[in-house]
Amino acid sequence: MAATVREETVTHVHHWTDRLFTFKTTRDPSFRFRSGQFTMIGLEDQGKPLMRAYSLVNPHYDEELEFYSIKVQDGPLTSKLQHLKVGDKVLVNSKPTGTLVADYLFPGKHLYMLGTGTGLAPFLSLIRDPEIYEQYEKVILVHGCRHIADLSYQAEIEALPDNEFFGEMVKDKLIYYPTVTREPFRNNGRITALLESGKLFNDIGLPKPNLDDDRFMLCGSPAMLADLVAVLKSWDLQEATTKNPGHYAIERAFVEK
Ligand code: A2P
Repeated sequence: MAATVREETVTHVHHWTDRLFTFKTTRDPSFRFRSGQFTMIGLEDQGKPLMRAYSLVNPHYDEELEFYSIKVQDGPLTSKLQHLKVGDKVLVNSKPTGTLVADYLFPGKHLYMLGTGTGLAPFLSLIRDPEIYEQYEKVILVHGCRHIADLSYQAEIEALPDNEFFGEMVKDKLIYYPTVTREPFRNNGRITALLESGKLFNDIGLPKPNLDDDRFMLCGSPAMLADLVAVLKSWDLQEATTKNPGHYAIERAFVEK
């Protein structure tokens, strides 16, 4: 089916900080996606659609769609998106896509989800999809931010073990590791540094990654992706594509403005 752009209605807006916010919209019943994917969303701007790639925050089974966004005052889309109010219309492309889907990775034991800033978004979808816990012994969510206040969704993530449907699996398998770089916190440092020094693995009690057991999903700014890929490549890990499976998958859909 050809992609179409539909109008959805904003049902909820939450501002986390002056740079970060979340909104929810209605969901056309025919809109289907896999947890971890993204789609193009946007607004009508001077008679034309202004669209950017946004990961779906909600798991595939939710009735509404949820998006997590940065606010940049001179950003072409986010300068406007940040003023969304309940009842406003948002454009949503009907064809989601993306490589942060477990099938693209070789089977493994430990799945590391590494996200900085709003790069957390696709992982919020995946950690609420019971399928991911069926495929891995441990699922490790690492969220890197500048400040503690930027660690959006902390309370929601920490409440997942209470989920009535898959809470038991979360309790057993999900390790949440938030880290900040610009103020003291229980975990400090860039994700790259935590991997290279091995501090992350010491802190969570898992062995240093090897080719047989460990898989990675990455989402963040182009600079963060480039630096993380350099670390993973130095360990001889291969990138997964839609054609060939690998040890790690990258999401390049990341709105910076
Ligand atoms: P830092 O504070 O040292 O720049 P941003 O808001 O700029 O996207 O950053 C989000 C988080 O990602 C911050 O903790 C930031 O650390 C970190 N970060 C920025 N660039 C990189 C990179 N090239 N590699 C790893 N982490 C990065």
